[in-house]
Amino acid sequence: MSVDVGQPAPPVHNGTPLVKLVDVKKYFPISRGLVFQKRIGQVHAVDGVSLEVYPGETVGLVGETGCGKSTTARLIMKLFDVTEGQVYFDGQDITNLSRRAMRPIRREMQMVFQDPYASLNPRKPVGSIIADPLRIHKTVPADRIKGEVQDLMKRVGLNPEHYNRYPHEFSGGQRQRIGVARALALRPRLIVADEPVSALDVSVQAQVLNLLEDLQQEFNLTYVFIAHDLAVVKHMSDRVAVMYLGKIGEVATGDVLYQNPKHPYTGALLSAVPIPDPRLASERKRIVLEGDVPSPIDPPSGCRFHPRCPNAQFPRCSEEEPLLTPHRPGQVAACHFPLEDRAIVTVEAEEAAAEAKKATVKRARTTTPRTTRKTR
Ligand SMILES: Nc1ncnc2c1ncn2[C@@H]1O[C@H](COP(=O)(O)OP(=O)(O)O)[C@@H](O)[C@H]1O
Ligand code: SF4
Ligand SMILES: [Mg+2]
Repeated sequence: MSVDVGQPAPPVHNGTPLVKLVDVKKYFPISRGLVFQKRIGQVHAVDGVSLEVYPGETVGLVGETGCGKSTTARLIMKLFDVTEGQVYFDGQDITNLSRRAMRPIRREMQMVFQDPYASLNPRKPVGSIIADPLRIHKTVPADRIKGEVQDLMKRVGLNPEHYNRYPHEFSGGQRQRIGVARALALRPRLIVADEPVSALDVSVQAQVLNLLEDLQQEFNLTYVFIAHDLAVVKHMSDRVAVMYLGKIGEVATGDVLYQNPKHPYTGALLSAVPIPDPRLASERKRIVLEGDVPSPIDPPSGCRFHPRCPNAQFPRCSEEEPLLTPHRPGQVAACHFPLEDRAIVTVEAEEAAAEAKKATVKRARTTTPRTTRKTR
């Protein structure tokens, strides 16, 4: 019997997105020669990404190393200029804003980096590191900065008495908390977290993820959350965008993505997530990807995934670029031959199926009229 696993309602998005990327591209030139530099090619790091992030939501960005996640993050933050396309923040086109014009907007968007140690100045005490944005933007009077910083330290779970300690005196998880406190100092509306837990021990990862979730509620934050681990992204995100070689292959809510991925690359990522239950594991169809990720200097024609895709059909996949098309509410995928529903068995999909089945049985029990009532 086939079970309808049900689909969670797509998130309701009203109003203006806080972040909007329109067909954004970032190519890095490759040059040769010491004096007369000659351009010999370019890295297509981000190649036509469109994405909207609404106030209060968390959008996850997932994909293998080198697929363009960090570059996308820096384009959102306007730390890189785009090669083509537009970047909007809260409805305003910030693509070509000068540094000066960006200054008030900078306050509203902050970044948390992967390596907390590398992003903290080892020669400065943490109090001073967290206070830097407050001093630069002059958002708090000088005599109140220390109190403000200690308050922030408390909120991220650090001991405010450690104000004068140096980064090396803290553990990895605590250093990431310092990075989070610094990001929060200006009370931003958007935080772009680029692999914020990838460098941490597994035992500490959950604590930092929980902290980010709590802070989102408390400060009404919008997150772009980047990771290469699909399980971490799913845990954190309302919607997940899957990137491959500079492009977005699929966007969906985490549940839909887990239950019914449409893009074969998403399917491959999911099928690699370990399943502890041996019965489910034996049922699951494993999609094994052949070969390495091709070079972004000379990306494959048509669909970029075609040299590794188990579903590829030729010549269409190697000649015609697939566009993002809707599959179900909130889900778009760029594929000419998308996966069937429930092509990948995941623990979560099985649990959702069991839940849906239980709910159907319960509904049937409560709505079926009693036809066998005894009459005298
Ligand atoms: N400043 C740069 N100059 C040249 N190439 C770069 C630069 N930054 C990133 N790249 C290249 O762009 C591609 C995407 O990189 P990145 O955005 O860091 O990917 P990810 O974060 O997904 O690992 C990679 O091939 C990387 O080598
Ligand atoms: S368009 Fe073709 S190659 Fe690309 S993901 Fe779909 S089936 Fe695979
Ligand atoms: Mg990166």
